[in-house]
Amino acid sequence: MKKALITGINGQDGSYLTEFLLDKGYEVWGILKRNSVSENQTYRLQSVYGHPHLKLEYADLLDMASLVRVLQLVQPDEIYNLAAQSHVRISFDQPLYTAEITGLGTLRLLEAVRLICPSAKIYQASSSEMFGNNIDEDGFQRETTALHPVSPYGCAKVFSHNICKNYRNAYGMFISNGILFNHESPRRGSNFVTNKVAKEAVRIKLGKADHLVLGNLEATRDWGHAKDYVQAMWMMLQHDQADDFVCATGKSHSVQYLVDYVFQRLGLDKEKHLKTDQKFYRPEELKDLKGDASKAKRILGWQPSISFEQMMDEMVDYWMEFYQNPQW
Ligand code: NAP
Ligand code: GDD
Repeated sequence: MKKALITGINGQDGSYLTEFLLDKGYEVWGILKRNSVSENQTYRLQSVYGHPHLKLEYADLLDMASLVRVLQLVQPDEIYNLAAQSHVRISFDQPLYTAEITGLGTLRLLEAVRLICPSAKIYQASSSEMFGNNIDEDGFQRETTALHPVSPYGCAKVFSHNICKNYRNAYGMFISNGILFNHESPRRGSNFVTNKVAKEAVRIKLGKADHLVLGNLEATRDWGHAKDYVQAMWMMLQHDQADDFVCATGKSHSVQYLVDYVFQRLGLDKEKHLKTDQKFYRPEELKDLKGDASKAKRILGWQPSISFEQMMDEMVDYWMEFYQNPQW
């Protein structure tokens, strides 16, 4: 039985990846960041909690000794480094904290793996945020597009991306960077724009809120579904060579279009219920993202399967059910 270790197991991607790997017959180990509400530590793992092949340990990317302890205990075949302070706007409020986790945290993990289990294969969660506002002439970003990050989060991810390449080349370690464009689901934190729009629009529809308040409506993103993207993570580690791969749908929509789609579906009037506020803008904005995933398609055989509209429908349905449950 193969052993996988996931950092950030209780995150959106960590939870879908756990389900995917358990289905494939893996023993899945995850590290949990301690939270005073212990239910929160496993909130997104409800569908698999108690599974005999799921093992959870306390550890933190800020605490190298805890990573050493877990790696010695588990001796994993595959490691998925998903843990991060992953919110771009918040990275402007907490830049040092973000750099410690999202940047240096990766190096702590790599160094611990190099010393304890150097033959483990590593997946690093790189991000399209690393491109900043740099776009190739044909309007897409791809593996060869230069990295010009425009947020502390993006800068931290560039550090992690580069240190992974450095450890791959210097020590011959199997480390693949997945440069993933935005991917969403009902498990997405509700302070990211897709799930914020879905949740608040449902609350307006049910009479629990009056307004949806957003920042930049002009920004465009290439939004896919997290379920599709965790498959790509696994495929990267099954490939015979470590490499860097973009995962994206190749289609881009504006935040404005996202609001129009959800409001139309719920029969809400934008003039009445939509406001903007400067506090949701970033000090430097990343305007447009659209990814070219042809390398992942050609080499890994990866293909996204869920459309933007199907995904938004699923998120709206999730919140509708959530608020109609009598306990809420
Ligand atoms: P997420 O929902 O924010 O999950 C992040 C996870 O990291 C959470 O489980 C969190 O724990 C954990 N974590 C935070 N700080 C930690 C620390 N110091 N030590 C250990 N664990 C820590 O993010 P996601 O959307 O699943 O994304 C997964 C990864 O892919 C992240 O690295 C993200 O930056 C990257 N990425 C995401 C996207 C996207 O569109 N979703 C695109 C490109 C790259 P708690 O649950 O306890 O908070
Ligand atoms: N969060 C948020 N809240 N975003 C808003 C809002 C709002 O009220 N109003 C407008 N936006 C705009 C943001 O300015 C941004 O242009 C876009 O909506 C998407 O914002 P987020 O959903 O917060 O995602 P992100 O693109 O900044 O970052 C996500 O994707 C990256 C990959 O490109 C995160 O998941 C990162 O971790 C990930 O690396």
